[in-house]
Amino acid sequence: MNQSAFDFDEPVDRRGTWSARWEKHAGRDVIPLWVADTDYRAPPAVLHALAARVAHGVFGYSVVPEELCGLIVERLARLYGWRVSPDWIVFLPGVVPGLHLAARHLAGPQEHVLLPHPIYGHFRKAVQLAPRAAGEMPLVLERGRWVFDEDALGAAVRPESRLLLLCNPQNPGGTIFTRAELARLVQFAERHDLIVCSDEIHCDLLLDAGKPHVPIASLSPEVSRRTVTLMSPNKTFNIAGAGCAFAVIENAQLRRRFSVDLHYTVHDASLFGYAAAVAAYRGGDEWLAAQLDYLCGNRDLVEQAVARLPGLSMAHVEATYLAWIDASALHLADAHAHFLAHGLALSPGSDFSAPQFVRLNFGTQRALLREALVRLETAISTSAG
Ligand SMILES: Cc1ncc(COP(=O)(O)O)c(C=O)c1O
Repeated sequence: MNQSAFDFDEPVDRRGTWSARWEKHAGRDVIPLWVADTDYRAPPAVLHALAARVAHGVFGYSVVPEELCGLIVERLARLYGWRVSPDWIVFLPGVVPGLHLAARHLAGPQEHVLLPHPIYGHFRKAVQLAPRAAGEMPLVLERGRWVFDEDALGAAVRPESRLLLLCNPQNPGGTIFTRAELARLVQFAERHDLIVCSDEIHCDLLLDAGKPHVPIASLSPEVSRRTVTLMSPNKTFNIAGAGCAFAVIENAQLRRRFSVDLHYTVHDASLFGYAAAVAAYRGGDEWLAAQLDYLCGNRDLVEQAVARLPGLSMAHVEATYLAWIDASALHLADAHAHFLAHGLALSPGSDFSAPQFVRLNFGTQRALLREALVRLETAISTSAG
């Protein structure tokens, strides 16, 4: 099958399908480019596998498919040269529960957690609900990329710091951290004896040739033993509604602590999540390559539009389908509300603790994206008036 066999331009009407993204503004003339799923049908391999499960007709309790463990082990070795053992894998219904489990079980009540800023909202929510004290590791724009301010790391860490949460690729900001950047972060974690929990859910959504994803745990046997890596096919293959994710944890003691709630307050992944994950990892990679090609085109359109518009700026998006747009030069009281009033629902920067920003999800059909960019332009022209 060649790439043209997948038509990402084909409109898919998601209204009335319980889509979180599309229901929020249902019945209004609003283009919803906020929560991070895409408007594309999942790969044909996934659709066939799910149809086969439905045809079977029995949806009882399930066990982890052994085949899925094998596919993950093979995939991590093939893509990253990272050799993991099947018994290091802990399945979850999503990456978000993994963040919450890490905050609750890998740092004690008196211990302290370090988290990036700005960051996907559940990082902060996880430490708030645990509850654990937290400090921020600020990201700064350096040569057009959002990277850690390494000089600020020392000021963020405390004697009671125990856990460092990382998001790689970064949401928001779209950075793929390089091997050298990760190695310096590892040195910092080792120096302060921190456990690392690395959310790598966006690791397949790489938009620039020559910028590979490096799982932080793959850097050395030492860092592997202090790391919990969270991954999932949910974003890559647009199957979050089926739901399947996993943690890779070499250290058996960390694995036991992390997993204490599993099957109890945290449910297993669903049968449909397992079926979709097996099919995606077994037969979804050509579709994924075509999707990345399409997303690059969308990313370029967004970057060109933002570069033309006064008062907006953004860094080049290396990974994810999310544009992190700085609207601070517009001096709007509420940037999100302003764009919404012009028929464009973006994620408010306040969800990431950066209220002067908005995040635009460009994982949609190009025709709709073009319409959204026209609305963005109109919103900018009225803000100047
Ligand atoms: C960094 C990050 N982690 C986790 C999630 C959600 O993961 P899941 O749907 O598997 O719980 C998202 C979704 O936007 C995300 O961006």
